[in-house]
Order: sequence, then structure tokens, then C-alpha cells
Amino acid sequence: MTSKQVYTQLGPRHVAIIMDGNGRWAVRQGMSRSKGHFAGVEALHRTVAEAIKQGVKYLSVYAFSSENWQRPSEEVEALMILMAESLDTYAEELSAQGVRIFPIGDIMRLPESTRRKLLDAVSKTANNDILTLIVGLSYSARWEINHALHSAVQEIESGKVKISTLLSNANAIEPYLSTKDIPDPDLLIRTGGELRISNFLLYQLAYTELFFTETLWPDFDACDLQEALDSYALRHRRFGRIDTKDNNDLKEELDCL
Ligand code: FPP
Repeated sequence: MTSKQVYTQLGPRHVAIIMDGNGRWAVRQGMSRSKGHFAGVEALHRTVAEAIKQGVKYLSVYAFSSENWQRPSEEVEALMILMAESLDTYAEELSAQGVRIFPIGDIMRLPESTRRKLLDAVSKTANNDILTLIVGLSYSARWEINHALHSAVQEIESGKVKISTLLSNANAIEPYLSTKDIPDPDLLIRTGGELRISNFLLYQLAYTELFFTETLWPDFDACDLQEALDSYALRHRRFGRIDTKDNNDLKEELDCL
């Protein structure tokens, strides 16, 4: 079995990434933090192409958290402009690659010009099906859960849904989440050396495999992604069950490659 066949067989369908370390990368090079975010966009551009090559179907990235609004206004402004400019630069190419752009978060808080470009890219890429790029923008998991609760309460109040249905099982909130039609992430990568989830996809990450790397996001490349995928391929996912199926045989095969 070739290495490609192993990964195709076991590769994650959905990879989520906390793209951390732009600021430190820039400061280390004597540049402004905004330059680090600019380099971060290029890393994202490379990673999307590499994820497509690796057969990933969903890529979730944390581009701007609800908490990031508290950064200095110059940095927030620079990030909003960068997002709009990145859409100008890359939206067409992403679309040609078959990428569907799918923002999650409180996008009404984005400046109008950024939001307009974003929604335009969303509608132009809506029918693409090679890779769905889920972009957390003004997103936090607690915001998402609160938003879901609001939607559920509205449906109860309008008589569309019964309270008993909503309380009937542990997953009943899922149809109200931003990711309702998207499978949960199989693998979460966090760059930049911090070991935390930072309010990203908290509900969806319940059984996700975690991979942390010291690599700062602007330096993240195909080798780093491969390292994360190699690590994932050796995980034994049981989802809380005791499994009769073991992947030790596969681990031996990988060790021999
Ligand atoms: C974390 O690094 C990164 C961010 C807060 C922004 C990430 C955004 C991008 C990569 C741009 C995405 C753009 C589009 C168009 C989706 P940090 O600033 O917290 O780094 P530090 O921990 O070194 O300070």
C-alpha cells in the first residue's frame, strides 16, 4: 500500500485550524503585526490548495474571534481591510479550485464593505463542492450556542417546534448551529505553540483529534500539514466506545513506509 492510499483511506474529511502566531512571526522579523496577518493569508492560500490535494472536504479556519474585537483599533481595522483585499485577490481563484466559502459568526458586526465582498464571494461559490472553507469571522463558540438558543426559542414561540422535542436528546441543538449541515471536525490543528481551544467550535470538537505545533501560522506549509495528517492517521478513534476494530495493523504498515 502506498502512503497516498493509506491517507486516502484514513484521512480526515474535516480539518479545523486555529491559525495562531501571526503577530509573533511579524515581531520576530521586525515587522508590524499587520504584516504577520498578511503572511497569514498567504499561509491560508497555500493550505487550502494542499488540503484539496490531500482530499480534505471541509476546512474550518478561525480568522477573527468575537474576542479579537478587543484588540487595538488599528489592528482590527487592518484585519478588516486585509479580509476585503484578500477576497478581491483570491475569491475567483478559490472558486476556480472548487472552493465554497462558508462564513460562520456574527458577520453583521463586520464593516459593510468587507461584509459585502464576503457575501458576494459566498453567493458566487455556493455551488462549489471540492472543498468547503468554513471561515470563523467575529465567531466564538459561546456566541454560536447563544445564537442557536435564540433561534430555538423563536421556533418554540412561533409554534414550529415543541419544547419536548428540543429537550428530547443531547443533539437537539445541532440544527440551530452555524455548522448544521457540516460534519464535525476530525482533526483540529493549532499553530503557534499554545495548548488551548480558545472558544472555537466547542460543541463540534467533542470527539475531534487534536494536534498542536510550535510552527507559527505564517510558516505553516505542506510538511506541517503532512505531519498533522500522519499523526491523525495513527490515532485510534473510539468515540467513547470500546472498539473491536484496531488500527495496529495499519500502524505497522505506516511504520514500514
Ligand atoms: C492569530 O495570530 C491570528 C489572527 C487573530 C488572525 C488570523 C487571520 C488570518 C490568517 C487572516 C485570515 C484572512 C482571511 C481573508 C480569512 P495572533 O495575532 O494572535 O498571533 P500572536 O499570538 O503571535 O500574537
